[in-house]
Amino acid sequence: MNELQKKIGEIGVVPVIKLNNPTRDAKPLADALCAGGVPVAEVTFRAAGAADAIRIMRETHPEMLVGAGTVLNEQQVDEAIAAGASFIVTPGLDIDIVKYCQAKGITIFPGCTTATDYHAAYRLGLEVLKFFPAEQSGGLDKIKSMSAPFPMFKVMPTGGIGLKNLATYAASKVICACGGSYMVTADLIDNGKWDEITELCRKSVEIVKEARA
Ligand code: 3PG
Repeated sequence: MNELQKKIGEIGVVPVIKLNNPTRDAKPLADALCAGGVPVAEVTFRAAGAADAIRIMRETHPEMLVGAGTVLNEQQVDEAIAAGASFIVTPGLDIDIVKYCQAKGITIFPGCTTATDYHAAYRLGLEVLKFFPAEQSGGLDKIKSMSAPFPMFKVMPTGGIGLKNLATYAASKVICACGGSYMVTADLIDNGKWDEITELCRKSVEIVKEARA
């Protein structure tokens, strides 16, 4: 794992964020995440202002690792890098995008769930994969089965993870960190419930620590 992947692993959770109003919400959201011990975010390109959100978070919290999520093409990789993104996340494994990121020197976590995905990821020299959508693809059982032929990978599962099952995932040595939107739902963001977000982050970090102890 590289330094960035190690740092994400130490934090243990990655909030998956969709921000509709970055000018209003990016800074208070970053404040809330950092206050809760989670100085990392995956800001998805599912919302039009993703690049702005990344820029604001990085400007107001230079210590934060802010990645771009749901990246679907090279143009979005460029936009994310220009905005100061620390890493790229794609929902699936696109070999061209992986090679593009490698050439640009930015860490990429491509979504992988099958032996074919893992095999391609191995050939690309990757070390940490997103496992998406985690619960719907077989959850931790599948992740463990995949690590029999592919013990070289750690994974970042997202999709269906919340406080109820975080400990189960986090306890496994195959897990680098767990991602999820449960800490940063539309309701929490749109209603400015920053303290609740901080609390959910705190709880998540605590659960991960206990699970790994
Ligand atoms: C992602 O893009 O990683 C997922 O949409 C997050 O899944 P969740 O909303 O179930 O946490």
